[in-house]
Amino acid sequence: MTDLKERRGLDGKVYQPAEDSYLLAKSVSAELQNRDDNPRVLDVGTGSGFIAEYIKKHAEVPVIGTDINPHACQEAQNRGIEVIRGNLVEPFHRDAFDVIVCNPPYLPDSPEGTFDDWMEVALSGQTSGKDVIDQLLEASQRVLKSDGLLYLLISTLTGIDEVIDSVERTGRSAAVIAEDNYPFETLVVLKII
Ligand SMILES: C[S@@+](CC[C@H](N)C(=O)[O-])C[C@H]1O[C@@H](n2cnc3c(N)ncnc32)[C@H](O)[C@@H]1O
Repeated sequence: MTDLKERRGLDGKVYQPAEDSYLLAKSVSAELQNRDDNPRVLDVGTGSGFIAEYIKKHAEVPVIGTDINPHACQEAQNRGIEVIRGNLVEPFHRDAFDVIVCNPPYLPDSPEGTFDDWMEVALSGQTSGKDVIDQLLEASQRVLKSDGLLYLLISTLTGIDEVIDSVERTGRSAAVIAEDNYPFETLVVLKII
């Protein structure tokens, strides 16, 4: 059993909005407010639905949420977000979205980590910290339009350069559009084109 949730002082079945959620929600809303089209947005790993709700309200664009955790789906739905339960982007058809946002599980975990706890699923990026991120980088290409954007929250604990290398291996590029410093990590928002 891993202790990521104990180390982060978290409990419950659904990840509640925290500094990472706020940074991603604010920076993506600011970007989308400058667009004059009406982009279709998918919030992958929507959790409580906070980011989806924030973007919908501040950027005034339609946002759908998805999560693998049924308790998260229920909570986001209670917030008024349209939610579909699934693994990453599997439920959606090709070219369905202009924008994907994701605050993924991004913490490196011990090899014996198990996934019998929804909070661990929310936090654990498995031993590399970027297992789910790498899956999303690959899978997002199918459901994003050819000029679509992926906004991804990561941490220095995940490894910024390592994630950018993974992005580049999918033929795309990444730019840092926001960051926030804390004593043990820096949170970063990547805009992936
Ligand atoms: C760090 S939490 C972020 C929650 C919320 N977006 C926020 O920022 O407050 C990561 C979320 O991703 C979800 N998740 C983890 N693996 C997933 C997968 N394979 N497919 C869909 N969602 C997943 C978790 O259930 C969790 O709700």
